[in-house]
Amino acid sequence: GTPPHHAGAGRAGFSSSLGVLAATLGSAVGLGNIWKFPSLTGANGGAGFLLVYLLSTLLIGLPLMVAEIAIGRQARANPISALRQLAPRGAPWWLVGLGGMAAAFLILSFYSEVVAWVFAYVAKALAGSLLSADPAQTQASFDALVTDPVQSLLWQWVVLAFIGSILLLGVTKGIEAVTKKLMPLLFLLLLLLCGYSLTLPGAGLALSFLFAPEWHKITPAVVLTAMGLAFFKLSIGMGTMMTYGSYFTPGQNIPATATRVMLADLSVSLLAGMAIFPAVFSFGFAPSAGPSLVFITIPAVFAQIPGGQVLLAAFFILIAIAATGAMLSIMEVPVVILHERWGLARPRATLLTLLILMLLGTGCALSQSLLAHIRPGGRTLFDWADYLSSNLLMPMGGIAIALFVGWAWGEQAFAAQLSNQGQLHNRALARALSLLLRWVTPVLIGLVMLAGLGVFGS
Ligand code: PFF
Repeated sequence: GTPPHHAGAGRAGFSSSLGVLAATLGSAVGLGNIWKFPSLTGANGGAGFLLVYLLSTLLIGLPLMVAEIAIGRQARANPISALRQLAPRGAPWWLVGLGGMAAAFLILSFYSEVVAWVFAYVAKALAGSLLSADPAQTQASFDALVTDPVQSLLWQWVVLAFIGSILLLGVTKGIEAVTKKLMPLLFLLLLLLCGYSLTLPGAGLALSFLFAPEWHKITPAVVLTAMGLAFFKLSIGMGTMMTYGSYFTPGQNIPATATRVMLADLSVSLLAGMAIFPAVFSFGFAPSAGPSLVFITIPAVFAQIPGGQVLLAAFFILIAIAATGAMLSIMEVPVVILHERWGLARPRATLLTLLILMLLGTGCALSQSLLAHIRPGGRTLFDWADYLSSNLLMPMGGIAIALFVGWAWGEQAFAAQLSNQGQLHNRALARALSLLLRWVTPVLIGLVMLAGLGVFGS
């Protein structure tokens, strides 16, 4: 294939094994754990959903994550150049990288809006203006925020500018350095909140809700949602892990790193569930509140416990921290593509990405105010961005990446990446993963997508 623009010695990357781990885990951990995971688990019946999500993570998520990182590290280039370089006979696999860039813009346009609410809530929690034991009141505060076009838009721009300014510092001094500081802080805050929550009287109910399945709630649409969550959680199917793979150190053990990240990410989700649900059950709220769970239920719950104001601020700071590493990784995809393929200097590529996102994000930011009347198929622009990315684009990207590694790239190169040029003996693992990616992963994703979208009837 054609050589990538900026391959080789001068290219930026993560500087240490710890840095690789922090950045990769930083990408996985985010709103997915604290906003999506509890609300989806709550709305879809608890433990049964959790089990389907676990299966998707193990059978689909983890192999794809390993595959993406391996591709990235082999090519040492952005997703478009990487797939171009590794594809046999000029086959157009690079289109998958282009799709990834589109998915990145789509995800960031709604993701940054949720983080906008989080930032606004940190400010409001610190000012003490959020707490009320009356859920009608906390609902009203949330509605007032999301239906206010000025606040929605300005907070989104604050969030985007914040992430952009970290990216301007570069891969090593920006992404790696920041995630290395934030990840330990995140675990500390989460453990504190969780420890506190488990002393509440509703803890028992919450744990049985999280860990005792109700099978009848599992429908094909629920399975698709669980699989979509697995993609979203592990940041796969859109080139993010490929991009980070291109920054991995040569000696980093890819399968071990991916497994560790998956396990740590899962712990964060479970801890978040154990921090949120006991509080919800203790004060008689419904666990099925959906996306507004953390914004409406949690302030009402925390109003009823001593020290609630401090806890509430801590909780939203926790979410902001978690979301930062994730947003850095999503935004890095278009930045490095614009940098390496269009030849823009990195700062310019970052500013251009920022500008595009400020424009595109408007659709999501205003979807409950000025643009609330635009609801094709009953979904707002915000809901469409969320739905299409997790349930369509990422799974499609996943199918393509599985097929690429299984059929096009070749097992030799894949095995070489997994074995770190022979230092480790991962041949059998490479064989097994190749077979899985060739025959099982694409078929499984395809079936779940078709069933979930109602193609087989419902
Ligand atoms: N994994 C992140 C989360 O769970 O919040 C979201 C995400 C990050 C999705 C990076 C996609 C991505 F490329």
